[in-house]
Amino acid sequence: MIPNRRAVIGGALALAACDRTADARVAPSLDSVPGFKHVAPFPVGTCMQVAQIGDPDWVRLAVANCSQVTPEWEMKMEYIVQDDGSFLFDRPDKIAAFARGNGMGLYGTTLVWYAQKPDGFAKLDESRVPFGKAYDNYIAAVVGRYKGAVGWDVVNEAVAEDGNGWRESLWATKLGEFDHMVRAFKVAKEADPDAVLFLNDYNLEYMPRKLDTFQKLVDRLLKAGAPISGIGCQSHLAADLKSGSTDKTLKALARFGLPIHLSELEVSIVRSERKFKSADDAAKAQADVYAEAAQAFRALPTEQQFAFTIWGLRDRDSWLKNENATDTPLPFDDQGQPKLAAAALATTLSGGLYQKASAAL
Ligand code: XIL
Repeated sequence: MIPNRRAVIGGALALAACDRTADARVAPSLDSVPGFKHVAPFPVGTCMQVAQIGDPDWVRLAVANCSQVTPEWEMKMEYIVQDDGSFLFDRPDKIAAFARGNGMGLYGTTLVWYAQKPDGFAKLDESRVPFGKAYDNYIAAVVGRYKGAVGWDVVNEAVAEDGNGWRESLWATKLGEFDHMVRAFKVAKEADPDAVLFLNDYNLEYMPRKLDTFQKLVDRLLKAGAPISGIGCQSHLAADLKSGSTDKTLKALARFGLPIHLSELEVSIVRSERKFKSADDAAKAQADVYAEAAQAFRALPTEQQFAFTIWGLRDRDSWLKNENATDTPLPFDDQGQPKLAAAALATTLSGGLYQKASAAL
């Protein structure tokens, strides 16, 4: 989808026309889908990888739709930390330069994540460097290098899978299950006082217990003086998500009064437990889940709408392809053409009245 003035104006007119009565609700249409960033009143983001910078189709799509980018994996420990403990910044630098060159915000993920414990840390010679010092040094080096980033996932996925307590991790073992989190936020704050610092997690729409533990953790971190300044809700969703779930979740998270990042949205077809009769039916259900997520985000107080980030744009770019190559979780198809999901997003991000695509199923 190439941005053009007609498409944007067309979107705005459609919105004005359907603004009056509930009867005027419009089902998503693929006729003209405006770029998301042109219709949303808050930043819209996507994840990205260095390889995509060399793909002009991806670049066009990203620039047309997004006002910020999140490095999908090349600004994580898995890329930056080398076995000998040194850091490699060539690729994250390229992503930062891409964002700068295209007038986009840069969102960093993720500083501390139980899932990543590179050898440089796991086999650290602590007779030479204390673990805590290496930990602080990593956070300060990365956040400092990309100073000016709009925000960071400082601690990612801290709550246990089943929602009972917190995750075990190398960081928790070495530095304390709670203290390592407080410490990470403090070091990040010092390295870039202006970046919004997030605690980020997933499955909050699906598991009330996890949502509850997550909120209690935020409370406790704030009380301990951790400079958390944002709440991240990943939103890896499936097409059979119960209606109302995102709204309920975001409303619960909004109680802190902090900016909220819907940080990794996608809507999987394959992960859905409901089996759809056809690909068409699945695409409609998927469009509705995207629409609800955008509506829920728009319903947040304006000052808490940090950004709405989709975990990729084209189906073929999705990380879920590794889990199941047949999944089609993103708003654009493999060729970059808008799917029903993209049309649903454009309508709802712009605040238009949305008629469920699956209403007739
Ligand atoms: C994933 C990326 O998509 C992969 O490319 C990478 O190898 C591993 O991480 N939750 C998160 C994201 O917080 O950082 C994950 O991204 C997806 C799940």
